[in-house]
Amino acid sequence: MVNLGFNIGDLHFKNPVLTASGTFGNGSELDDFLDVSRLGGIVLKGTTLEPREGNLYPRMAETPSGMLNTVGLQNKGIDYFEEFIYPRILNYNTNVIVNVNGSYIEDYIALAERVNKLKKIKAIELNISCPNVKRGGMAFGTNLNSAREVTREVRSVYSKKLIVKLSPNVTNICDFARAVEKEGADAVSLINTLLGMAVDVEKMSPSLSTITGGLSGPAIKPIALRMVWQVANAVKIPVIGIGGIMSSSDAVEFILAGASAIQVGTASFIDPQASIKILEGIEKYLINKGFSDIKEIVGYLNKSKNF
Ligand SMILES: Cc1cc2nc3c(=O)[nH]c(=O)nc-3n(C[C@H](O)[C@H](O)[C@H](O)COP(=O)(O)O)c2cc1C
Repeated sequence: MVNLGFNIGDLHFKNPVLTASGTFGNGSELDDFLDVSRLGGIVLKGTTLEPREGNLYPRMAETPSGMLNTVGLQNKGIDYFEEFIYPRILNYNTNVIVNVNGSYIEDYIALAERVNKLKKIKAIELNISCPNVKRGGMAFGTNLNSAREVTREVRSVYSKKLIVKLSPNVTNICDFARAVEKEGADAVSLINTLLGMAVDVEKMSPSLSTITGGLSGPAIKPIALRMVWQVANAVKIPVIGIGGIMSSSDAVEFILAGASAIQVGTASFIDPQASIKILEGIEKYLINKGFSDIKEIVGYLNKSKNF
């Protein structure tokens, strides 16, 4: 048997495979395809205080080795979440994480306070990196002072584990990782989507209603991996790697680079069972290599220096 577990402080995750926000619904949509409770955790679709309609269509565009989206945090708000979604996730035997969003700092604080009261939710992921909303989102994650302030304020009202999701749309992501660590983040997750664009040449117009959108999928993996490696060397808190992870081999790359855990995003759209297959593949990799604990390979690139 291989130990796949990791911890964020005293919060234990039975394995390092989580699902990325916005790509796995609220878990129950995937119940017919896989046993959600086998995963290390699931991160739910971005939630806001008030319901949001999201952006106009078209919201998706396929691009070489990836996709652009501009969903714009469509969700039914925290009241609906508490009444209808929360009861459905209570039976999951895994860590359920709420992805917290807002237009203003006050929204983040109010939402974090509400989620703090939900017993089943042991951690939130603070999304300061959504590129597809007019106000808030990435604006917090691309300005150091705002990133500091929103983390500090949420930390002061949220007593459980605080994961801050970083934006890749910055010059030096390590500055942001260090800043949120200093303000009390228990872990960082990265990366959110990269700001991109596509044009429909037949219609001679942008492919997305908002012109620009967030790029995800295999196309972003080398960038995500580079950022995870840099951040893992810059902070002491656990790093959760996200970006173009389609296979267990991709996941292992992130772990070797310093990620304690990973999130599976776009891959779930292609194969709803991708996260479970990735989990099984990681375990097989460790057995084949003769490791008994995944911690032995977290950040192995730095430990071994044999490259
Ligand atoms: C359709 C779609 C919706 C997303 N919605 C959210 C969201 O609500 N909150 C969030 O933090 N990230 C959201 N993301 C970003 C993903 O969680 C992830 O960070 C990103 O897609 C990179 O990972 P991937 O390449 O494996 O998809 C979304 C991504 C996609 C493709």
